[in-house]
Amino acid sequence: MNNFSFQNTTRLIFGKGTIAKLSKQIPSGKRILITFGGGSVKKNGVYDQVITALKGYEVTEFWGIEPNPSIETLRKAIDLGKEKNVDFLLAVGGGSVIDGTKLISAGLLYEGDAWDLVKKGYSAETVPLGTVLTLPATGSEMNSGAVISRHETKEKYPFYSNFPQFSILDPETTFTLPDFQVACGLADTFVHVMEQYMTTPGQSRVMDRWAEGLLSTLVEIAPKIKEDKTNYDLMADFMLTATMALNDFISMGVTSDWATHMIGHELTALHGITHGQTLAILLPGTLRVLMEQKKEKLVQYGERVWDISIGNMSDNADLAIRKTEEFFRNIGLATRLGEVNVGEDTIVEIERRFNERNVAFGEGRNVDGAMAAKILRSCL
Ligand code: NZQ
Ligand code: ZN
Repeated sequence: MNNFSFQNTTRLIFGKGTIAKLSKQIPSGKRILITFGGGSVKKNGVYDQVITALKGYEVTEFWGIEPNPSIETLRKAIDLGKEKNVDFLLAVGGGSVIDGTKLISAGLLYEGDAWDLVKKGYSAETVPLGTVLTLPATGSEMNSGAVISRHETKEKYPFYSNFPQFSILDPETTFTLPDFQVACGLADTFVHVMEQYMTTPGQSRVMDRWAEGLLSTLVEIAPKIKEDKTNYDLMADFMLTATMALNDFISMGVTSDWATHMIGHELTALHGITHGQTLAILLPGTLRVLMEQKKEKLVQYGERVWDISIGNMSDNADLAIRKTEEFFRNIGLATRLGEVNVGEDTIVEIERRFNERNVAFGEGRNVDGAMAAKILRSCL
């Protein structure tokens, strides 16, 4: 196990009716900017619950943070926040609203254009932020990351700042999610675990078992959620699994991969494909292409998550990859690039972009432009 330092400062407030506890978390007298997406919270009653809970505070609302939040939109929110002199932020929605609000929280204390912060990749100076989550997927509610897009240039990059001070997770808020978003959330959660687990074996027994516990939970609940996405206990397990998948708990002292995500961000930047959908296509491809490098861990994963123990190592690893692709298909997602109308021209462009930026991802730092192209071609 590698040396590590761990701190996660987000208070998690979980369960039915917990939005009513909002005012206990925000000091009185704060001037709050509340940020929203496109309006789902108006239809499912979350907006009313938030406004009722914040009676007595000075609040300003900002609407319209879109899926894959863009700098173009976030600049407007930063201007509004500066004009109103806000000193607390509350993000209400999915990962996009929360991610966008993380950039707003840094942009409010920055004189220049907030895109500078995205290019730098990091900002420690932020206005305090709380969240009310309505979509289990990204883990943004309990981590310090965000992913910000720039439409003008079709770019999308990770950005790191501070953890939310608190996040309220009421599983009942997820009951109105469209089936496609549920599927993308399940895929995103699954791949977050895999990015931190499917690397080199033998680094940490406890990290392995935690990761396998989360994966097995997803394998168990996914088909049941497909039958009934308004089952409280199922959605509660889904919501907590998504949070635990990307809040640093399963990455202590072990290496991570993240190549699937970095290629996926390019597909979203270039074609607007939903994040979880890009991962359902790319993860099986990454595993196919890096099968030799990841074989031992694939065999462990196959045995512990999919109960595969019959053949030789290569057969078992191969079956584990096929099971993974089948899992994504069964939850209702595409697993091949042709199904989302992506072809060779996009592969060439992603290879060019990786080469231009001189990047290489994965635990072996060997997923460069050429390897990314190989992975993409194996998904055709
Ligand atoms: O905008 P509204 O009207 O609210 O509708 C949203 C949006 O259209 C809707 N929705 C959310 N909650 C709902 C609901 N509809 C009905 N009922 C509800 N309860 O769902 C749509 C998608 O929302 P979005 O926030 O975009 O989805 P998600 O949470 O999957 O976030 C995706 C973004 O997060 C980034 C992705 O790259 C992408 O930009 N990620 C952030 C990470 C992080 N911060 O750590 C890590 C992830 O790997 C990921 O990259
Ligand atoms: Zn993700």
